[in-house]
Amino acid sequence: MYISMSLDGYIAKPDGDISFLSAMEQEGQDYGYAEFNKTVDTVIIGRRSYDKVLSLGYEYPHSDKDVYIITRTPRPPKGSFKYYSGSLKTLITDLKSRPGKNIYCDGGSLIVNELLKDNLIDEFIISIIPIILGDGIELFNRGIAEMAIKLKGFKKFKKGLVQLHYEKILS
Ligand SMILES: NC(=O)c1ccc[n+]([C@@H]2O[C@H](COP(=O)([O-])OP(=O)(O)OC[C@H]3O[C@@H](n4cnc5c(N)ncnc54)[C@H](OP(=O)(O)O)[C@@H]3O)[C@@H](O)[C@H]2O)c1
Repeated sequence: MYISMSLDGYIAKPDGDISFLSAMEQEGQDYGYAEFNKTVDTVIIGRRSYDKVLSLGYEYPHSDKDVYIITRTPRPPKGSFKYYSGSLKTLITDLKSRPGKNIYCDGGSLIVNELLKDNLIDEFIISIIPIILGDGIELFNRGIAEMAIKLKGFKKFKKGLVQLHYEKILS
């Protein structure tokens, strides 16, 4: 998972607004995203997050990767992007059983929390945006199971963003 959240744990405002992220834009600074992308060959993203990118007038990137848009409504593929309506556990288990690079979970909250139910997230790269939103779409839902993690690294950036990298402690 590679995601951004406010200091109080929200990935978007209640209505899905993510304009608070634009305060972090800085010429020549991608917060390690290009390097991270080199480690990835598969992306999974919730249908709402995917639609949000399109609604902002962008094309969804990652056309060089296998992209699964997670939805409960089966739909035909969109170019090289596949809609997926089956079990997330089955999808991840199947992808992990094949040789390949990392699988990137691009959010949103519903997908992250669904994956956490089955302990399917191995690494968490979380960029803390220096803002308190007070309300919104929370990254981690209340009631998720306790999970032991360890800090792999952290970076501080000029705009005040702090990026934390955790990994699951394998039991
Ligand atoms: N700050 C960041 O870095 C960041 C990153 C990503 C996203 N976001 C923001 O997060 C917001 C969206 O997050 P979200 O939590 O509302 O939605 P989401 O997780 O992106 O997508 C939710 C959708 O995924 C599908 N879904 C969820 N669970 C499923 C399951 N078990 N099986 C099959 N399909 C399932 C459903 O699609 P259908 O309705 O089609 O059935 C559901 O409506 C957007 O505002 C986005 O911009 C922020």
